[in-house]
Parts: sequence; C-alpha cells; structure tokens
Amino acid sequence: MTKKIPTRIYLSEDEMPQYWYNLRAVMEHKPDPILHPGTLKPASAADMEGIFCKEPVRQELDESTKLVPIPQGIQDFYRAYRPSALIRAYYLEKELDTPAEIYYKFEGTNTSGSHKLNSAGPQAYYAKEEGLTSLTTETGAGQWGTAMAMACAFYGLDLTVYMVKVSSEQKPYRKAVMETYGAKVIPSPSDTTESGRKILETDPHTGGSLGCAISEAVETAVKTDKCRYVLGSVLNHVLLHQSIIGMETKAAMDKYGIKPDLIIGCAGGGSNLGGLIAPFMGEKLAGGKTGNLRFIAVEPASCPSFTRGRYAYDFGDTAKTTPLIRMQTLGNGFIPSSNHAGGLRYHGMNPILSRLYRDGYLEARSEVQTDVFDAAVRFMKVEGILPAPESSHAIKAAIDEALECKKTGEKKVILFGLTGTGYFDLSAYMAYNAKTMTDHIPSDEELARGFESIPDIPQNK
Ligand SMILES: Cc1ncc(COP(=O)(O)O)c(C=O)c1O
Repeated sequence: MTKKIPTRIYLSEDEMPQYWYNLRAVMEHKPDPILHPGTLKPASAADMEGIFCKEPVRQELDESTKLVPIPQGIQDFYRAYRPSALIRAYYLEKELDTPAEIYYKFEGTNTSGSHKLNSAGPQAYYAKEEGLTSLTTETGAGQWGTAMAMACAFYGLDLTVYMVKVSSEQKPYRKAVMETYGAKVIPSPSDTTESGRKILETDPHTGGSLGCAISEAVETAVKTDKCRYVLGSVLNHVLLHQSIIGMETKAAMDKYGIKPDLIIGCAGGGSNLGGLIAPFMGEKLAGGKTGNLRFIAVEPASCPSFTRGRYAYDFGDTAKTTPLIRMQTLGNGFIPSSNHAGGLRYHGMNPILSRLYRDGYLEARSEVQTDVFDAAVRFMKVEGILPAPESSHAIKAAIDEALECKKTGEKKVILFGLTGTGYFDLSAYMAYNAKTMTDHIPSDEELARGFESIPDIPQNK
C-alpha cells in the first residue's frame, strides 16, 4: 500500500544526515582547477590559505571524498534550525489544476531567512577551530551577511560585512539584524579600503556590486591579523555545505518512496541549487535508477551567467584579487542593472554547475522579474508563504512545468528549492503592487562590456 503523503514531511533529529555530498567525486569530467592569478598554475592550499580558512580550502580542493562527515560541532549548529520541511504543494497543485505532484524544500524558517545559514555555520565553526578571531564578508541582498552574523555570534567571532550600497539603503532592517547580532556593516564601495576608494574615484555615485564588496572584504581580511574572508556562494566548499538540503530532501523522499522527475532551483552563484541536486545528480551520474530525471537552473534575465555567459577563467571580484575560476561568467566587471530586486546579481556561477551545464546534465533558463513576481504572488496566495524574490525564480519554472503537465496530462513529480522568505524584500513587493517594477534584459553591447573584463590569458583562448 502506498503511504499517504503528508503536506509537510519532517525528518526527526535522529534521521538528520550526518554527511555532506561532494558531487565532484562522482563527476567523470571534473571542473578545471582553480588557478593562481600570478603564475596561472593550479592554486595550492597554501596559495588560498592567505585569504580563506584552512578546512574550507581543503574541502575546495577535495575531488575524491564523496561523503564528507559533518563534524559534531556543526551538527549541533544545524539542530538549532534544521531539519527543514519538505512540503507537498497540495494547494498550488489544486490552484493550477495540474496532474503534476509538486514538492518544495523550504529553507526560510530561520532568522536569517534563507539557506545561507547552512554554510555560514560551518565556515564560522572552522574559523574558530583554526584559532581565528574575526572574519570579513560581503553581502548583496543581505541574506548571507545576516547568516554570517548569526553564525559568528554563535561561535564567538567578530565579523565585518561589506554590504552592496544600494541594498544597504533599500534594506535598513537587514543591517539592523546584522548589527544586533554584533556584526559591523559597511556600505560598499567605501573609503575604508584601497579597492573601495579606487572604485569611488571612477564612479562616485555607484550603487556598488557584489564584485566590489568582495574586493573590499578580501583586502580587509588579508590586512588584518587572525582574520580571513568567507564567501557565501560560488565556491565548491559552499556547495558541499549546502548539500545538507539535498541530503535531507532525499531522505524525506525515500521515506515515502517519492521519485522526482524534475528538480528546479534558482541560481545566483549556484549554492542552493548545487546543494539541492547533489545526491540526486550524483545518483544520475553514477548510473542509478533515476529515469529521465532532469535538473533546471533558473536565473534572472538581468544577470544571465548560464544562458548568455561565457565559460572562461575569471576573477571572483571586480578588483581582480581572487584566484581564477573556470566558470560560466558575464565578466568580473559586469554590474547588473540597479532596478533588479533581490540577490542573484553575481557575474559568475559555481564551477561544478558550470561544468554540468557545459556537459548537458543541467538545463538553464532565464526569467524577467515581473513574471517572477507574478509567480511568487500566485504561489503565496495558496501556499501561504511569502517567498524571497530569488526563490521565486524557481517557483516560476515549477509553475510553468506543472502547467505544461496539465496540457500533456503527464503526472510528473516536480521538486523545487524554496530558499528563503521575502520579509526583507517588501520594497520590491511594493514596487510590484504599484506596478512600478520594471524589467531589464541587458543588450549584447552591455554584455560585451562585461566580457571585456574576462582576463586575456592562454587558458581562455
Ligand atoms: C533567498 C536566496 N535564494 C537564493 C540565492 C542565490 O544564491 P545561490 O545561487 O548561491 O543559492 C540567494 C542569494 O542571493 C538568496 O538570498
């Protein structure tokens, strides 16, 4: 007899995964190595340890351990807000009148409001274990900065957050939460760093970008004793930590014998998507019985690194200080238009996902923000959750796929990642309600300007 599937599936604490899933271990074609920007040779752990914490660097370079044990100290942190619910979208299915089954993994119930805490905790834990006293980071829409502020408070570390200037102006409450957790928040670009001052000299009125904020955070980390820089997306160790999402989802689905046909995630730097798909994609790559399981990344049309980007070695920041990463990129100099609400504003995409996309395992599509907000509102009216604008990209694709099933009569099982809540994005919802929200799709000329910033090195020929 098949079990009735509850609206919310929770794992018990005992059923929580004790391992992260390292997708690279099962990939036949692995992502290309990260390069030292000076020598253009593969970066060693020693090259990266000047910027990042030691254990995350080791994880960044580990291509062979498939199941990575989650240290007890991090499992304790996870238990403060996990497991998250896997929700059957019965109400949305009814509203769409679709034969499809829709599920979503909801990561927005912790105070930071998103999945970002899943990597913030481990990164703060490893910093503390290493004997560091402070960390720096950047934040765009604010979720990552808030998550890091929470994690640093938990493990007793100081934190400086460079927050993209436009969002620090649009989201004073985000800043207030970070400061209440004890973090120092500096709008970026700022005059506190050389890279910030340089950017301000060229464009004094810039609203900033993630690339600029990263440059400032890296510079401060490098110049401060017992301090390192932490990043909330893009890098492989962040995907590893985020695989807790996929591991929990798979355990919950297996419990009820649910097999997804389609897994959808929004994509900024790729961390939630990579984390959600990890064990499922791993099974597919290893030749498991996954049928025609497909994976879809959904990105904003205003920052389309998958669908219109290049696969090239590029810097992670505007000041060109980070190691070089081979990824789908719009160029480190690309700055998305300021009318874009929410996150998903980064120029590059995680190397694992970029490789899977190039090899045809991962599909990608882009959506304009007014369509995304239409989908968000349709979803929230029946499911009751106010979704983050970023997460709503996945909702849009899930609704489109469910409506396609309605046309064809197929009973597909659709799973998507609902990465966060939209409580701090109300100015965007206000613009949507007032019909002042606009869409911007960059022209080929705008993209060409971004591509010019991709380094002209032999590896990119
Ligand atoms: C709620 C939420 N979802 C998704 C993202 C996208 O980041 P990633 O692609 O690293 O998951 C962000 C970050 O901007 C976010 O805040």
